[in-house]
Amino acid sequence: MPRSLFDTQPLYDLLEQQQHHHWATQLRQLTQAAIAPGRDGHLPLWTDTWLQLPDCPDPVIRIDDGAVAVDGTLSADQESRLHSLLKVLHPWRKGPFRFFNTEIDTEWRSCLKWDRLAPAADFRGRKVVDVGCGNGYYGWRMLDAGASLVVGFDPFLLYLMQFEFLRRYAPENTPHFLLPLSDQALQTAPACFDVAVSMGVLYHRSSPIEHLQLLWNALKPAGQLVLETLVVEGGPDTVLVPPGRYAKMRNVWFIPSVELLIRWLLRTGFRNPRLLDLSVTTTAEQRSTPWMTFESLPDFLDPHDPSRTIEGCPAPRRALLTATR
Ligand SMILES: C[S@@+](CC[C@H](N)C(=O)[O-])C[C@H]1O[C@@H](n2cnc3c(N)ncnc32)[C@H](O)[C@@H]1O
Repeated sequence: MPRSLFDTQPLYDLLEQQQHHHWATQLRQLTQAAIAPGRDGHLPLWTDTWLQLPDCPDPVIRIDDGAVAVDGTLSADQESRLHSLLKVLHPWRKGPFRFFNTEIDTEWRSCLKWDRLAPAADFRGRKVVDVGCGNGYYGWRMLDAGASLVVGFDPFLLYLMQFEFLRRYAPENTPHFLLPLSDQALQTAPACFDVAVSMGVLYHRSSPIEHLQLLWNALKPAGQLVLETLVVEGGPDTVLVPPGRYAKMRNVWFIPSVELLIRWLLRTGFRNPRLLDLSVTTTAEQRSTPWMTFESLPDFLDPHDPSRTIEGCPAPRRALLTATR
């Protein structure tokens, strides 16, 4: 029995059961507004494409060599049709995924970030909020690692649709939800999550401290933050505010040093901040592919000096930290 599109009712039911009535009502209203007709001109095409996804009698979602994979029985005709339907959702940025025989080689090999993230947190039995979750790739990995609930927030509707394509083949009771909302939806969140994940979002926020406060609010006491963001080299007073674009991105605000980031965490009320990984992003991790044909990292770096962005700033370097509420 295929699942219905945008079915977040089981999440609201769960929140209601935990007496979080107010937040459940707010999330329902905000989500309905975010996907209301006319909100995004692509939505009718994407919905129509979702409706054409082939039925499969025995779908199974599993992790296969770093890819989130759907296996099951499809005819050759269905396989070839599915390939075209998946192409409608270009660009595929986070992954990889495999839908039956179709391998989606995404712009990012997010499996490499997962390999850095996996030792950072014990997801077993944990309720996780993933803010800026993209298409939910990491959420599927967290479920596989034993999470009891994953709630992703990402305002970009294409990523919601990519998530819905996969969820179409998931069992009815899969505890993985993606809401098309920003971090602002956490303003009224109860302190109900064991783990809060924010990866690749902090530098997009014009108020990074507020973003950290929202994550703090959503965590239970002693809950764990997993934070991944761009950093620059330097001491506790160093922060890069790019004068314009950064690596061709328009919406990059604050890129702190690790030491300053730790100070932000402590000032926000987090305890025991720890740096787990520091990596320079390489073209082995981020590049154009047939499933993301636009420009990618090689185009964002200075062709004569890959340690600089095309604008002359330090090239992307990412820190992964954890801290406790
Ligand atoms: C660089 S991507 C990172 C995706 C994923 N977390 C990862 O690490 O690969 C940033 C994501 O944050 C989302 N985003 C941007 N502003 C946001 C906000 N205010 N609240 C939540 N998500 C946001 C974007 O739509 C995008 O999917």
